[in-house]
Amino acid sequence: MYSDKVIEHFQNPRNVGEIPDCDGVGKVGSPVCGDMMEVYIKVVDGRLADVKYKTFGCGAAVASGSMGTEMVKGKTIEEAMKITDQQVAEALDGLPEEKMHCSNLAADGIRAAIEDYLSRRGGKEGAGKGDSEVEGGG
Ligand code: FES
Repeated sequence: MYSDKVIEHFQNPRNVGEIPDCDGVGKVGSPVCGDMMEVYIKVVDGRLADVKYKTFGCGAAVASGSMGTEMVKGKTIEEAMKITDQQVAEALDGLPEEKMHCSNLAADGIRAAIEDYLSRRGGKEGAGKGDSEVEGGG
């Protein structure tokens, strides 16, 4: 039923836990099964320097959280924002159709954490710093 990758990530999940001083947190629940996932991100220079997750979900959710957080770690905010449940499922060598909503928890949770980060940052904008940064052209 499950691919070797799903089983491997379920048995040795990466990035499980919380980031106490995180820059954003996404809490999502699945309307299909009622299970939950929380994703924590730490952002440095516009990239996800660290990503952690916790889930009260099934084995497929544990594996999806593990794979999903691995996929976006080190990525820019823009890149990470594009993650989909399909990509997470493909990276796990597929999930049974009735388990696709579990991978959606991971993708949704990651995007929710980024949205939280962006809204927190938006609140800090205009604090009155005078110096302007010039972006290096490429
Ligand atoms: Fe709920 Fe998989 S059945 S997350």
